[in-house]
Amino acid sequence: MEIHSNVIKQNTSAFRFVDLFAGIGGFHAGMAENGGECVFACEIDDTLRKIYENNFGVFPEGDIKKVDEKSVPSHDILCAGFPCQPFSLAGKKKGQTCPESGQLIDEVVRIAEHHKPRYVLLENVPNIITIDNGNFWRYMNTRFNDIGYSLHYRILSPVDIGVPQNRQRVFIVACRDKTDSYTLTWPEQTSQCTRLENILDHKGDFRLLEPAKAELLKHWQQLLSQLCITELHSISIAAPEFGADYPKNFSRLTLKEMIQYKGAYGQSLTGCTTWKEVLDRLPSYVRKNRQVPDWINSSVDFSRKLYIQNKTVADKWITRLPRHNNSWQIMEWRGDRQNLTINDHLVQFRASGIRVFRKDVAPSLISMTSTQVPVIPWLGRYISVREAAKLQNLHHLSSLPENNSAAFKAFGNAVNAKIVSMVVSNLIKH
Ligand SMILES: C[S@@+](CC[C@H](N)C(=O)[O-])C[C@H]1O[C@@H](n2cnc3c(N)ncnc32)[C@H](O)[C@@H]1O
Repeated sequence: MEIHSNVIKQNTSAFRFVDLFAGIGGFHAGMAENGGECVFACEIDDTLRKIYENNFGVFPEGDIKKVDEKSVPSHDILCAGFPCQPFSLAGKKKGQTCPESGQLIDEVVRIAEHHKPRYVLLENVPNIITIDNGNFWRYMNTRFNDIGYSLHYRILSPVDIGVPQNRQRVFIVACRDKTDSYTLTWPEQTSQCTRLENILDHKGDFRLLEPAKAELLKHWQQLLSQLCITELHSISIAAPEFGADYPKNFSRLTLKEMIQYKGAYGQSLTGCTTWKEVLDRLPSYVRKNRQVPDWINSSVDFSRKLYIQNKTVADKWITRLPRHNNSWQIMEWRGDRQNLTINDHLVQFRASGIRVFRKDVAPSLISMTSTQVPVIPWLGRYISVREAAKLQNLHHLSSLPENNSAAFKAFGNAVNAKIVSMVVSNLIKH
């Protein structure tokens, strides 16, 4: 093994790496850019395995649990973008106890223990450091310390290195050698970031924004243009709170007490004879626990105040707001507080609401659903697969998943290749 460590030291154009949980190949692309040779990959998804072979000429093995560590060739750097679902805040926070994926880090340790590569490079959501009161992170440290590695990490996002995507991920480098730990350096952050506009394509087979959603954005714009807002917070406008005055926690109220209040859009609760009738007239987010959940608590106060200040405008506006989709009734403003023009922003249709972002930097690409692909409202279309590939610095790949939603899923799962390349170029310098 030490031979390979020397190879890195003497000749930066020849080091060997393995790519576990290879996906569409973000690690591979970043390592290859530095002259790395992939000697083994594994990926459980058959379609992605074929695509990986087309792009990189290496056919990945399947399930890591079935890989015999002795069959993996020796290598200098072991890369593993182990699945992030068990750790992501969007997931169920089961952490290491998740039977399907939470234990996959043990498979990485098993292969590293056998081959003793100079470095192990891992990537995941930042939440793995803190989940379960830091227990998972302590577990990882113990496992790696026991096989002779020390762990170092840095949270990095493409926007830090000039690529217009906000995507915070934790990059973990495990070093065997004490000197490597001391000399480890991380990519420098830049204040100069390419604007998203500069990576957009002018021609292509673009997916247009559906007419109903385009109308919806126009309708919200009418409200935003007419509102008298003394103070716009970076929080949501929850339209169902317009005219509502029900208590934010009514879990202990009797039916008789409750029907004195007004529900969603100021609907009177008087006359309701059952709790079901009451709950039907309340915003969807209070129905489960009979109280306003934390994630929208401050927006409820803000929206009620806003309504009082803009009653005439709001009363007219709500009559034409589509009510069939709960998430269309909430505007999550994360954009410019001085400029309330939706067309000067990016939009994402999320389960929690219509989220608006500043237009210069795309929000994180998400693997779980293609319905959350960012919208470019001033062009009336979604971000394309090619543009998503650029946001992950994977646009040079010639083979991609056939349908759009599989391609977005793959890019949403991938590690940004440029960050990998910058981290690795520092590792192989010494
Ligand atoms: C977070 S993604 C890693 C993506 C990759 N780093 C990239 O740049 O595309 C995790 C990948 O692990 C794969 N995976 C999940 N369980 C696996 C297993 N038991 N064996 C091998 N691969 C697995 C998933 O299909 C997914 O592509």
